[in-house]
Amino acid sequence: MDVLRVVFFGPPGAGKGTQAKLLEQKFGACQVSTGDILRKAARAETPLGKQTSGYLARGDLVPDDVMVKLVAERLKEPDCKAGFILDGFPRTIAQADDLERILKKGGLPLEHALGLKAPNDVLIKRLSGRRTCRNCGAMYHAVFNPPAKDGVCDRCGGELYQREDDREEQIAARLRVYEQQTAPLKDYYRKRRLLREIDGVGTVEEVRKRVFRAVGDGAK
Ligand code: AP5
Repeated sequence: MDVLRVVFFGPPGAGKGTQAKLLEQKFGACQVSTGDILRKAARAETPLGKQTSGYLARGDLVPDDVMVKLVAERLKEPDCKAGFILDGFPRTIAQADDLERILKKGGLPLEHALGLKAPNDVLIKRLSGRRTCRNCGAMYHAVFNPPAKDGVCDRCGGELYQREDDREEQIAARLRVYEQQTAPLKDYYRKRRLLREIDGVGTVEEVRKRVFRAVGDGAK
């Protein structure tokens, strides 16, 4: 099986998590979602969760040093040795610099930086309708991908919930933070000839085809 070493960035709701999971299924590289790791830590009330849950609730970024340490540790695990799909990291230039340094040291440079884009009206509709399973993490959308039974996961029967940061005020804060702190990554990766900008508007399947083409799997 081919391996892959990519980062996914883009505004909240662009579809990073949805598409990263599809890439993971196809390429078998580990998907590292920093948002999922932080939410899990918050639910379990671990020291990391206690330290960071306030940032998530407000829609702010967690400090760079915390995130870099977390990702560096995760990338050392055996399932990430050959390939990885970083979903939601890096989110600042400082994180990108540190990632570059870590990967250089490991001799496994990044192959692509996938920048998903979509206009704010699309992002807001997606985020306000998102529902996630408390048990298995499966993702739904109230309109675009509803479960068979309202509030219940098709896959495991778990309860579906709305993320705290998917409320109107927090969505607005996250979009602002993205523009100020994460959007500059486009130029950063363009200069390194790694940027692949991908139109995130359309069905999940339409976007999937663009993502697969961007990583060189053109036949699919
Ligand atoms: P994180 O969990 O990464 O949130 P995010 O970046 O805001 O991204 P989302 O998960 O909201 O959206 P997505 O682009 O993954 O879209 P998705 O596929 O889910 O981070 C949360 C927080 O953690 C941050 O705010 C920050 O506090 C902290 N954090 C994380 N990483 C950090 C870092 N590196 N540094 C500092 N802090 C960090 O899709 C959204 C919805 O749309 C779903 O319902 C889905 O079903 C639907 N959908 C997806 N694609 C389509 C489509 N094509 N058509 C219709 N519906 C679609």
